[in-house]
Amino acid sequence: MRYHPQYRLRLAHDVARHIMLPSAALEALLVVHKPSTRVLIDLKWKIPLFLAFNLFWAILRLLFRSWIQAREAYRLGGACIPTVQGRCPGNIDILIKMMKALQTSYLLDVYLDLFKEYRCTTLNLRILWVDQIITMDQEHVKFLLATGFDKFWRGNLQKERMETFLGDGIFNRDDAIWKMHRSNARPFFVKDRIAHVDVFEKNFNRILSILLSYEAIDRPVDVQDLFGRFTMDSASEFLFGQSFNTLGGTLPIPWSAQTSKGPTSSSQGAAHLGAKGSATDDTWGEFVQAFESCQQNITRRARLGYIWPLFELFEDRSLKHQRTIRKWLDPLVSSALEDKKAARRMGVINALQEKTLLQHLVDSTDDLALIRDQLLSMLLASRDSTAVLITYTCYFLALHPDVLQRLRAEIIEHCGPHGSPDYDTLLQLRYLRAVINETLRLFPPVPLNIRESRADCTLPPADPTYATGDHTPLYMPGGVNIVWLPMLLHRNPVLWGPDADEFNPDRWLHPDRVAKCVANPFMYGPFSFGPRTCLGRGYGLNEASYFLVRLLQHFDEFKLHSESQPPESRPREEWKLKEGRQAKEQIWPAAAMTLFVKGGLWMRLKRSDAMLESL
Ligand code: HEM
Ligand SMILES: *[C@@H]1O[C@H](CO)[C@@H](O)[C@H](O)[C@H]1NC(C)=O
Ligand SMILES: *[C@@H]1O[C@H](CO)[C@@H](O)[C@H](O)[C@H]1NC(C)=O
Repeated sequence: MRYHPQYRLRLAHDVARHIMLPSAALEALLVVHKPSTRVLIDLKWKIPLFLAFNLFWAILRLLFRSWIQAREAYRLGGACIPTVQGRCPGNIDILIKMMKALQTSYLLDVYLDLFKEYRCTTLNLRILWVDQIITMDQEHVKFLLATGFDKFWRGNLQKERMETFLGDGIFNRDDAIWKMHRSNARPFFVKDRIAHVDVFEKNFNRILSILLSYEAIDRPVDVQDLFGRFTMDSASEFLFGQSFNTLGGTLPIPWSAQTSKGPTSSSQGAAHLGAKGSATDDTWGEFVQAFESCQQNITRRARLGYIWPLFELFEDRSLKHQRTIRKWLDPLVSSALEDKKAARRMGVINALQEKTLLQHLVDSTDDLALIRDQLLSMLLASRDSTAVLITYTCYFLALHPDVLQRLRAEIIEHCGPHGSPDYDTLLQLRYLRAVINETLRLFPPVPLNIRESRADCTLPPADPTYATGDHTPLYMPGGVNIVWLPMLLHRNPVLWGPDADEFNPDRWLHPDRVAKCVANPFMYGPFSFGPRTCLGRGYGLNEASYFLVRLLQHFDEFKLHSESQPPESRPREEWKLKEGRQAKEQIWPAAAMTLFVKGGLWMRLKRSDAMLESL
């Protein structure tokens, strides 16, 4: 067994260090200095005494740490990162507010409110006395991911949360294992590999027939679920050489239809909804559901922070799902390992160009768990992010019919009403790229991301374009988590202008605005930056572009159908009174590692006239 529930060990270690050690010290003190009065030996007095001593010890420890930090900050010449001052000890009120916001607020709005309140772009939340940095500062993001890359890693706390799910995969490792994964995967993302569109065409045709059949009976469809199947089937074929065929499964039915048929109907053909709203009653559905549940459970851990192991003392919430994931992936890996042995016996050596990533990994190691973990990470990377991109693009096309018409015109001009575009043609579609850029700006598929400092260091001064910036470096203590928020960075009016919250693809075609973005490359980072920047950028953009072109050749009207969403997943009334996008958002954006639309994105698509004529 490879998996060790290490988080329990960590918890035990912390309890020993912070509670048992001081208690033992006090006990020893009592034994040495036999107290003259009997009160101290009395159990009735002993318990409060021990509690008081532990409290005293904890306070002493915190004071000592603050002193060490202040000294280090001075030595390194950095100012302290502004710290949130809640009303309750340990900022428990802030923690409660953040947990509540998950149920009621617009995505990341709690953070934005704090940044506004403290008039800065990098903050220390210090929840339960544990430092926790959040940042939407361009300069700090740059340092974290690029110029100061060596000073950060994914970190122990993040690994602890993700270990059961991602194990040895690229998203959960640093240094040697990460480098190995990255160099193993890199050859699969060169232009020759990613330029193929036949897999996308095949899967698009399946989507097309589903959409047409829904259109024929005038029923709305959850495109988020459908697009997740498209990217899953395309990714599995790209990575394993074998499609999971999730497009062959049952699709979810609208909420309204579920309730009108009564609760028993769900066992008669209607699909169950997965954690992110996907239907999961088909063959690979079990896998997809486990995959999504793990992401949800891990997100919950991240929200609870340092203390999450307390809530999973007796049950690792990801373990059950991880077993399901293994049940589906391990046989694929085993059979690839068998094939390799057979091929070696016959003296066959496959050229890299002819191999899938799975075959390539199998050639590099016999370690089944290592290969499986890496495949899972790659599936996660390639399925979710691209599906989110096309889902949110369709959302915006439904809100902005003018953009839809202009985009169709461009597509038909370059690709014709039916043609299948190739890689180079796709690169010429400037307006399409502007629409994609704009969607990724407002809804970056990875809206927040975490790193941990390896040791004490200083962050460069905050971005000087912010009026309130204090131009000194900031002291960053070692072993501390730092969360960076591309979604807030991308919507900052200081960087993007007063219309930062508007969907306006034209901003990407306006010379002055483009020049600003070129001069400040770190104000826009949907694919991250630096040595860990997205490997699949070209592949994902090609996939999304191809898909959107084919979709828009066939459909010219996109209409949202919110009635099909469960009521609790619709945008909340109180958002209408607030500033920013939330006042007019028609869906509820949510995040569990990647972004998604709560309750699904239900739409009706209407066939274009050109398409009707060709039938
Ligand atoms: C629109 C689509 C996509 C977006 C917005 C996106 C975004 C990102 C982001 C933000 C990261 C950094 C994650 C982190 O450091 O924690 C990342 C990493 C990565 N992405 Fe993508 N991605 C997309 C598509 C893809 C696709 C299609 C693939 C593969 C087929 C892929 C493969 C990877 C890999 C392997 C990494 C890990 C890189 C490393 O840690 O060294 N991505 N992506
Ligand atoms: C994990 O998350 C899923 C989806 O949110 C939830 O249904 C499930 O109960 C969680 N697993 C455990 C063991 O708590
Ligand atoms: C889209 O954004 C990228 C930056 O990621 C930029 O290089 C490119 O010029 C933009 N393209 C268009 C057409 O907006």
